[in-house]
Amino acid sequence: MKLLDSWYAVALASSLKPEQPLAVQLHGERFALWRDASGGVAALLDRCPHKGASLSAGRVNAGVIACGYHGWCFGADGHCSSIPAQHTGEPMPRRAHTRAVHCREGYGFLWLWWPRDPQSPLPAAAALPPLPPVGPVPEAGDPEWRNLEGQVEWQAHWLRVLEAFMDLTHAPFVHSGSFGAMAPDQLMPEEQWVQDDSLYERVLAPRDRHYRADQGRGLWALFNGDERPDDKAAGTAGDAGVQHIQLWLANVSLVRVVFGDFRISLLTAHVPIDDGQTLNLWRHFRSFLRTPLADGNARGRVERFMAEDQRMVETLTPREPDVDGRGDLLLASDAMTLGLRKLLRDKRSSGLLV
Ligand code: FES
Ligand SMILES: [Fe+2]
Repeated sequence: MKLLDSWYAVALASSLKPEQPLAVQLHGERFALWRDASGGVAALLDRCPHKGASLSAGRVNAGVIACGYHGWCFGADGHCSSIPAQHTGEPMPRRAHTRAVHCREGYGFLWLWWPRDPQSPLPAAAALPPLPPVGPVPEAGDPEWRNLEGQVEWQAHWLRVLEAFMDLTHAPFVHSGSFGAMAPDQLMPEEQWVQDDSLYERVLAPRDRHYRADQGRGLWALFNGDERPDDKAAGTAGDAGVQHIQLWLANVSLVRVVFGDFRISLLTAHVPIDDGQTLNLWRHFRSFLRTPLADGNARGRVERFMAEDQRMVETLTPREPDVDGRGDLLLASDAMTLGLRKLLRDKRSSGLLV
């Protein structure tokens, strides 16, 4: 299943190096991304029209991408600008071009536009909608936050993965070895909505139940005692914090846990490599223990709970969720999953989900 006329976050912006193109995969196709002369990002189908080499295996020279096999050069519009082996003055062959794709940068990701009809002419960039309004996400270099990034590939359909990140009630079971150890089985959302192409949910997160299990161990133990956050600052009553969960179509989720000054945000792009594989690109922000010495511990925690989800999500059948709900027995407590599937059904009736 593909959402059409939609922006997809497909790579971490930090993974794009100046002279080296980057290969990304989306819905079974490969694209080569690079920075053009203006510093913007450009993307082409990752296939050279000469003999079919991967353009992403080439180089970037003065803002154009040069195929690594015979050096044909291409600009961001996909047209070949130079064929080194051809005599000067010979006309450029008419078919010396490859498909260009719209690409943008935002929220620490690189995004590709997946059009309704990939074969139709490329629309003007100004005619496209803006990137989804993801946030709040700390700016790069904000001294209030420490940021880590990573990625992990799951053998699961991307919509199953999106649903897992919106799913509250699995925490005490899937994450019983980590932060879910003390989570209550029934966690009632305080607020929930679906608006435009976004779903949102807010729940109270009782600190004792969610986090006590973690706070006694390792570097995180430092957080106990004097550094305990002020609950009043969080606008919450008693020993509780707030958890915000939000999704923006096509493929980005944000989970924010706020206990006063103790804040964690996890921004994840769930990239549909194809119908059986999803690449999770994560950006993790923490407002405490910002020393690099705590990075290994924080990264280990993110990787551990991602692995806990992966273990379960990879077993789900049918592999592709039935958006009409016939394949699963969903209850009121699955409101976010129901909301997402309703959104997808609406897309399907507008011809935007195929
Ligand atoms: S295959 Fe790309 S230049 Fe020959
Ligand atoms: Fe989970």
